[in-house]
Amino acid sequence: AVNTIYDNHGRPLNYLRLAVTDRCNLRCFYCMPAEGIKYLPKKELLTFEEIERLVTTMAAMGVSKVRLTGGEPFVRNDLMQLIRRIVEIPGIRDLHITTNGILTAPHIPELKRLGVASVNLSLDTLNRERFKQITLRDEFDNTFKTLNLLLEQNIPVKINAVVMEGKNTEDILPMLELTKEHPVSVRFIEEMPFNGEGSHYPKLTWTYNRILEHIRSQHPNIEKIRDDAHSTSYNYKIPGYAGDVGVIAAFSRTFCGTCNRVRVTAQGILKTCLYDNGVMNIRDLMRSGATDEEVRSKLIAAFHQRAANGFEAEQRRTDHQQVHESMSTIGG
Ligand code: GTP
Ligand code: 5AD
Ligand code: SF4
Repeated sequence: AVNTIYDNHGRPLNYLRLAVTDRCNLRCFYCMPAEGIKYLPKKELLTFEEIERLVTTMAAMGVSKVRLTGGEPFVRNDLMQLIRRIVEIPGIRDLHITTNGILTAPHIPELKRLGVASVNLSLDTLNRERFKQITLRDEFDNTFKTLNLLLEQNIPVKINAVVMEGKNTEDILPMLELTKEHPVSVRFIEEMPFNGEGSHYPKLTWTYNRILEHIRSQHPNIEKIRDDAHSTSYNYKIPGYAGDVGVIAAFSRTFCGTCNRVRVTAQGILKTCLYDNGVMNIRDLMRSGATDEEVRSKLIAAFHQRAANGFEAEQRRTDHQQVHESMSTIGG
């Protein structure tokens, strides 16, 4: 039997966010500079064998939910092969993917067959021109096609939209309307400073409260619905609509008290908070010949030293810097 690990604040750790690459085929300005970031050489990445070993070890410690992130996960060669392996690991009950949808469409039938639990699609606007301004690539049609195919295949889908002053606030209400006909969740996210540039620390003008007020001004009858135990979003529904609406206080960090997430970057660095700068290098530990039991006990030690919340994690950073690494290297 698997005994779930609880951290030093009594929170169960059962959700692994695994970044499979640091590369991305978009250049969203809130995530990386226009010239891109310096990508890791391939030998620095966890191999599929190492990932399988790590997920197996974590599954035996109570991790049952895995989310593949990136960079853009589908930029990693042979991603489908990795997915086929992860769904077979005993104890992994559900596999999720966060993707920008550009390369995803051809794989949707197989994702369905493999029982992938849900896909979170990053899409900040329904306007082609604004899509290009935000991402620096003209790929709106590909992402939108993926959205439609996911809906057709009945794969649960959540749309993630980062709300940015001067960039896409006019999209909030139209995106909400997607939930009228479609059983989709549209989630609006506070912008975080993970843009790969210490030089422009964004000023949060669209807080979750402001986003909610904006929505309420148009839909005064919007109803609060229940949130899952470890939800990042506060969820709402417009009466009569098929889907629902969420707001994620990613910068305000109001949900740390129920945080059940651990992160592993593409190069195998363990993060016990999105805002820390890494607490342990799992890849080097495995490559130095550590046994499963040694890996397990080091992981448990790290879980027992977690910061209470994102503000504490930020203060404890060993680089003593404000957060500014690219989201593409962290996985979100
Ligand atoms: P579900 O499992 O579907 O609830 O998705 P999720 O919200 O856990 O993951 P997703 O990859 O869709 O992330 C949505 C947004 O929430 C992104 O901007 C993430 O960076 C942010 N987010 C996810 N987990 C955390 C977290 O632990 N802390 C903070 N501050 N933000 C988070
Ligand atoms: N602030 C908030 N969310 C971000 N994401 C990427 N960069 C940021 C940021 N600076 C989101 C993406 C993706 C998710 C994993 O993180 O839109 O959906
Ligand atoms: Fe968890 Fe850190 Fe995010 Fe808070 S800020 S929810 S502790 S990852």
